[in-house]
Amino acid sequence: MISKNNNSVLYFDGCNTIDLANKYGTPLYVFSENVIISRCKEIRESFLNKYKNTKAVYACKAFLSLAMCKIIEREGLGLDVVSGGELYTAIKANFPADKIEFNGNNKSQSELEMAIDYGVGRIIVDNCYELNLLETICKSKNKSAKILFRITPGVKIDTHKYITTGNKDSKFGIPLNENIIYPAIEKAINSKYIEFMGFHFHIGSQLHDNISHLAALDASLSLVKYTKEKHNYTVNELNLGGGFGIKYTNDDEPKSLSYFIDPIMNKINDFCGKNHIDDMHVIIEPGRWIAGEAGITLYTVGSIKTIPNIRTYVAIDGGMTDNIRPALYQAKYDAVIANKLDSKTYKTVTICGKCCESGDILIHDLKTPEISPGDILAVFSTGAYGYSMANNYNSNVIPAVVLVKDGKDEVIVKRQSYDDMLRNNIIPDRLNF
Ligand code: LLP
Repeated sequence: MISKNNNSVLYFDGCNTIDLANKYGTPLYVFSENVIISRCKEIRESFLNKYKNTKAVYACKAFLSLAMCKIIEREGLGLDVVSGGELYTAIKANFPADKIEFNGNNKSQSELEMAIDYGVGRIIVDNCYELNLLETICKSKNKSAKILFRITPGVKIDTHKYITTGNKDSKFGIPLNENIIYPAIEKAINSKYIEFMGFHFHIGSQLHDNISHLAALDASLSLVKYTKEKHNYTVNELNLGGGFGIKYTNDDEPKSLSYFIDPIMNKINDFCGKNHIDDMHVIIEPGRWIAGEAGITLYTVGSIKTIPNIRTYVAIDGGMTDNIRPALYQAKYDAVIANKLDSKTYKTVTICGKCCESGDILIHDLKTPEISPGDILAVFSTGAYGYSMANNYNSNVIPAVVLVKDGKDEVIVKRQSYDDMLRNNIIPDRLNF
């Protein structure tokens, strides 16, 4: 999807990135629809069509917009939402209710009510408080909810600690302590308003090996077995979360989806054979893996400052407001000067943003051709958790999102205006002098 033309300009899904920067301004998020389509195709080929009783839901926290909901629905995936706002977006896009799963460690009463009213397919219950709240809500509406329990499987993973979610000491999920999980299982089985379907885990993000998924799966299967033996109740749904790693820089060597899926499915099939369970349903919930490499961000270079014998700072017109990941997780990115693809590498620079924070560094030690103000920097693999974590720090506006496909470009999210930013500001009368 990434290519260059004879004038050494970067093309993305058939679109000239310099033309995009001129047409829409920068910073600009650009998403390739064809990359999203090819990721969904791989999910269908290596999972949905290969194994029966499988479902994939896109964790839309990675990147959400109305148009993205439409693409995900068209490509045959469901949607994982984690807030009233994400659910509202899905509803506004007419996303089919039964294909929505609702995650989150502190869903409010009104969020749960919204989910029950819309009829979402699954509620992933994160704790015992939520189980009680959900039961009360369902009772008052005389409705029932299909639930999975999110468990904390207690596995360690090799990723940044802020995106680790499955270790014992985590705010997410129900601990595997028999005084906590066993009564919850019993309550769910006995409740008139709860349909207890199975277990869910999500152990963390940007993983390049499958060991932790397999360990978490063992923990979930033990609970399936316990539930069957103790209560004579067979749950037949397992949601394995997301977390599959992508390529940000040449240091990342992401594995295929099959590398994760095949051993997982073998283990589940073995278990089901031994325990006489014949219709286990398996769900995956990838976010980054679908959206990450589908997005790039275009910036315009502004001030360039060389501190002799120290470094050259190249400032761009965005930064931690449109991509907070380097500041938050020390995330690494690769980038090029989109209008100088053929130039020779000649120096190492540091790309910094325009926020009033010394930590607003997008890329340390990037090798680039000679850069001048006005050049366009294209940062790769910014599709996941860039736009969705964007913020208005220093009252910078949130950039537009453009969808490109086969040489055509369309705005799917307009650039925020200064007035958009001030829309909810009020001056009380007494201060209106
Ligand atoms: N399912 C659940 C329940 C999750 O909590 C998450 C991510 C996912 C699925 C999707 O994970 P993925 O496939 O995208 O790794 N802001 C961080 C990532 C936080 C992820 C939180 N949960 C980042 O920028 O790396």
